[in-house]
Amino acid sequence: MTPVRPRSRILGTGHFLPPTVRTNGDIERLVDTSDAWITERTGIRERRIAPEGLVTSDMATHAARGALEMAGLTAADLDMIIVGTVTPDMQMPATAVFVQQKLGAPHCPAFDLSAACAGFLFGLSIADQFVRSGQMRHVLVVGVELLSRVIDWTDRTTCVLFGDGAGAAVVGPVAPDAPADGGRGILSTCICTDGSLAQALWIRGGGSVHPATHATVDQKLHFVQMKGQDIFKAAVRNLSASSRTALERAGLVAADLDWVCAHQANKRIVDQVVTRLEVPIEKVLMNIERVGNTSSASIPILLDQKMRDGTVRAGHTVLMCALGAGVSWGGAVVRV
Ligand SMILES: CC(C)(COP(=O)(O)OP(=O)(O)OC[C@H]1O[C@@H](n2cnc3c(N)ncnc32)[C@H](O)[C@@H]1OP(=O)(O)O)[C@@H](O)C(=O)NCCC(=O)NCCS
Repeated sequence: MTPVRPRSRILGTGHFLPPTVRTNGDIERLVDTSDAWITERTGIRERRIAPEGLVTSDMATHAARGALEMAGLTAADLDMIIVGTVTPDMQMPATAVFVQQKLGAPHCPAFDLSAACAGFLFGLSIADQFVRSGQMRHVLVVGVELLSRVIDWTDRTTCVLFGDGAGAAVVGPVAPDAPADGGRGILSTCICTDGSLAQALWIRGGGSVHPATHATVDQKLHFVQMKGQDIFKAAVRNLSASSRTALERAGLVAADLDWVCAHQANKRIVDQVVTRLEVPIEKVLMNIERVGNTSSASIPILLDQKMRDGTVRAGHTVLMCALGAGVSWGGAVVRV
């Protein structure tokens, strides 16, 4: 008899978006751009900006509480906390440490991972391995970014794109005796990095190459710098490939999908990827118009919004894919 492979599944999701809205019209007053250009080239109309005093771990904690509540768990049930972020509270310790503190979670391992916009999918993949191996029961995965604090608000090529927010998922085991669970679970994951494109999207200041000095501040090395077209091309190519790999590993084809939940970086990237995959546009979840690119928070925010409004329902099969700085990217097929 073939042994039944243990499986993990997403037990609950949550998200947090700060209340302050910054519209394209607001950005028109900061840089030489227009609502028409931003909407047409990216699909973004507005994004959320965190108010002064709110920090990355606050947003992550809000999202985590939502995920725990949906899962019917408390912080005491957590065995591991993974936070995907490139905008941590501080250099040291990890933002996950503050999330543990704020949630009142037990002394479980809590660490950050740096995979930029692919951070949530990298975290999901790690959580899946730990849960399937039986080493951990409940792993909290958070994607959170407070990019508005590392954006040069005089650079029109980047400041129109990004927004702040957090999304979270609790990953746990599929109960072995679950009656007719409908095959729910994380069916596959796939994560990759191509370091040859490291220079296409980065924040150079503050590390060992350019420790913070007055000069690094004057040279704006603590802000995001990006070669947009290089990232665009890498995204279309690699997201299509990793989506195909994730589908193959799950033993599925595109026609089996109920939804595609892709990283919300640019509507044109998502359109090109789903066209390549031959997934009809009605199956594509989008919220970029209202939240912009929230990097690692993008997928869990979108998934949680669509689960809570009843669009994505238990048993639906969802393809996730994301690419960001590194470049690092990933795909996952999840029956939620
Ligand atoms: C950034 C991005 C929207 C730019 O769109 P694009 O179609 O590639 O635009 P280009 O960079 O070719 O610029 C076209 C023109 O618009 C101008 N432009 C750039 N930003 C502008 C803005 N905000 N408003 C008005 N004009 C702008 C450029 O200066 C350029 O002008 P020129 O032709 O006179 O030189 C697009 O490349 C993109 O989305 N890339 C991926 C970004 C991404 O996903 N990053 C995060 C990783 S997750």
